[in-house]
Amino acid sequence: MAIDSEFGVKSSSIIKEWSGQVHPALVASFVFLFCLEACLWVRNLRLKRRLPGPFAWPVVGNAMQLGQMPHITLAKLAKKYGNVYQIRLGCSDVVVLNGDQAIHEALIQHSTEFAGRPNFVSFQMISGGRSLTFSNYSKQWKAHRKVAQSTLRAFSSANSQTKKAFEQHVLAEATELVQVFLRHSANGQYFYPAYEFTVAAANIMCALCFGRRYGHEDLEFRTLLHRVEKFGETVGAGSLVDVMPWLQSFPNPVRNIYETFKSVNNDFFTYVKDKVVQHRESFNPEVTRDMSDAIIRVIEHGEESTLTREYVEATITDLIGAGQDTMSTVMQWIILLLVKYPDYQAKLQQLIDKVVGQDRLPSIEDRSNLALLDAFIFETMRFTSFVPFTIPHSTTSDVTIESLRIPKDTVVFINQWSVNHDPLKWKDPHVFDPMRFLDENGALDRDRTNSVMIFSTGKRRCIGSQIAKVQVFLFAAVLLHQLTFESNLSVPPTLNCSYGLTLKPLQLNVRAKLRGKLLGVVSPA
Ligand code: HEM
Repeated sequence: MAIDSEFGVKSSSIIKEWSGQVHPALVASFVFLFCLEACLWVRNLRLKRRLPGPFAWPVVGNAMQLGQMPHITLAKLAKKYGNVYQIRLGCSDVVVLNGDQAIHEALIQHSTEFAGRPNFVSFQMISGGRSLTFSNYSKQWKAHRKVAQSTLRAFSSANSQTKKAFEQHVLAEATELVQVFLRHSANGQYFYPAYEFTVAAANIMCALCFGRRYGHEDLEFRTLLHRVEKFGETVGAGSLVDVMPWLQSFPNPVRNIYETFKSVNNDFFTYVKDKVVQHRESFNPEVTRDMSDAIIRVIEHGEESTLTREYVEATITDLIGAGQDTMSTVMQWIILLLVKYPDYQAKLQQLIDKVVGQDRLPSIEDRSNLALLDAFIFETMRFTSFVPFTIPHSTTSDVTIESLRIPKDTVVFINQWSVNHDPLKWKDPHVFDPMRFLDENGALDRDRTNSVMIFSTGKRRCIGSQIAKVQVFLFAAVLLHQLTFESNLSVPPTLNCSYGLTLKPLQLNVRAKLRGKLLGVVSPA
């Protein structure tokens, strides 16, 4: 009451003080502001008319209409507004691209114009603002991507020797997984395999980057990785953190997610920086021990390097971070679909037994004889579309697609799920059917597999797609060769999932049984 009355007295005295003198000026200001607002409104209306889309509510825009599964909602809206349309999320206009044709036109035919990233506060926070994945398109970004891509290739697929070394890293992790799963299944117990897959995926990258791996029981490593899982909640398309900055000013779930995101980034970046400092201190130009040394050499000692030394830790953070969640998620879906379709599990095991036998582990050379396994993997990627949108893009200049003009710096969501469920492209897209990827001779249909969109396309296409495919194939082959997976009858496998940068199964409770001899490899790390 006291405050109210004090405030009331103050304001009325101010009005008295100014009355008479400023009144005409105030009216003029109001009229001016009103006219300005009206002009802007009409201008916006004209601009927006170029792009169709649903009515956007004040303040929140269409945020409340996205629902639990934004990729499905936005694919449905495409039926009404076309494959290129606009929504508004909080303070940000977002163009949504759906379907093969529109996405191809944007990312391939106008690859430079669609290669940007939005200047979201959350993106600028990652890796001290030097992330390759989350930085906008620029000369520097191109140099950065080149370093990351060529180093990754040099350590995984440059020649037969590096291919073999990479395969050995993957096999070592896969056989370790077999043992961990058997331990978790002791006495017929069921378990949730997500973290084990994350540890395995992170270990492969740690082996390449730092020449070391961690045990599945290492609590510090597990805690770090467990927290990194939260990352996708903030950077996925439709996250409200960046488009409604006012949500940061009072307690609410979005603010909590953002706070976690900031500390996860900080922890992970600090972990990588420590490792890079150790590498720098013991750097020997004559010997390249691992990818960290290779990146230090190019960025800090290379004659043509345009990147400062801070880009070393940023590059390694990108490489270790990018693959963890995606790799773990795809493996979770593979296990889920194997227990959901046990006939496929049995069929794949029979094929692996025939091609590989029981006395050795599967290898990458077996791949051409295991087309059904690749078909199962591609169908898992298509059917689940577990990375439903790419990371948000932005336009680097004004651009026109499907005769619609999109201004520079517009946020763009690219709906990969819509490509993988387009009924014009896929027969019965909502049916899980690996056979769709085999031709009449039982060989893998390359045109079909190339039509699956999970690694994006164009200038921002995933740089880890090749190693990811090798990894998924070897993990799946070794697990099927060594184990049979069963689901918990009281928690039957469902396709229910949580939404973020990746779609993660909500219920995955399995146990593993040894099929034959337990085989192992010696870790090269
Ligand atoms: C199954 C596993 C994987 C999937 C499905 C996947 C998918 C994707 C997608 C959808 C993007 C965003 C592209 C865009 O915004 O248009 C991306 C970016 C990226 N991925 Fe992957 N990824 C996987 C594994 C990996 C691995 C293992 C690595 C590294 C070792 C990696 C490194 C990257 C990097 C560095 C980018 C950023 C590219 C850029 O912005 O220029 N990914 N990935």
